[in-house]
Amino acid sequence: MAVRDILICGDPVLKRKAAPADPTDPELKTIVKDMFDTMYENRGVGLAAPQIGLSISLFVINHDWNRDEGKEKDGVEEVFINPKLLKAYGKDEGYEEGCLSVPEIHEKVQRKDTIDIEYTDLKGKKHTETGVTGLRARVFQHEYDHLHGILFIDRLSPVKKMFVKKELKRIIEEME
Ligand code: CO
Repeated sequence: MAVRDILICGDPVLKRKAAPADPTDPELKTIVKDMFDTMYENRGVGLAAPQIGLSISLFVINHDWNRDEGKEKDGVEEVFINPKLLKAYGKDEGYEEGCLSVPEIHEKVQRKDTIDIEYTDLKGKKHTETGVTGLRARVFQHEYDHLHGILFIDRLSPVKKMFVKKELKRIIEEME
């Protein structure tokens, strides 16, 4: 088990657009394993490679593991390599999000509730899925944003964003 350090908001890697990942790279298996370890250790439901300092197009999700009872590794582990958000549609939905790179902040973010996606898994198999909904669609969009240098706080209204940034500055200073 290798838990890696998570980059915190303000690090330039989190603002960068991630480069395509090579699904045949044998190193990827170790990275993915470490990403799940890191995600579970920090009680997250998703983690993108840039959050551990790797600017490559890869994220992992386990959106329904039982975080409260600490029964790690239940739920379904999913690996998304070079994912594409083909279409976001349906109705706008507000849902309270947090992020392991944005300590202590939780805010309601508006996103579409249905998506069509494309990605490659760790075995190199390509998938296309339409009509993805629920928490899985929510987490996918949050992690997908990470690959484009976008944090959930960037999606808040300008006033809310200003407030949150001030709050965040204080929180990060206290952590140091
Ligand atoms: Co995040």
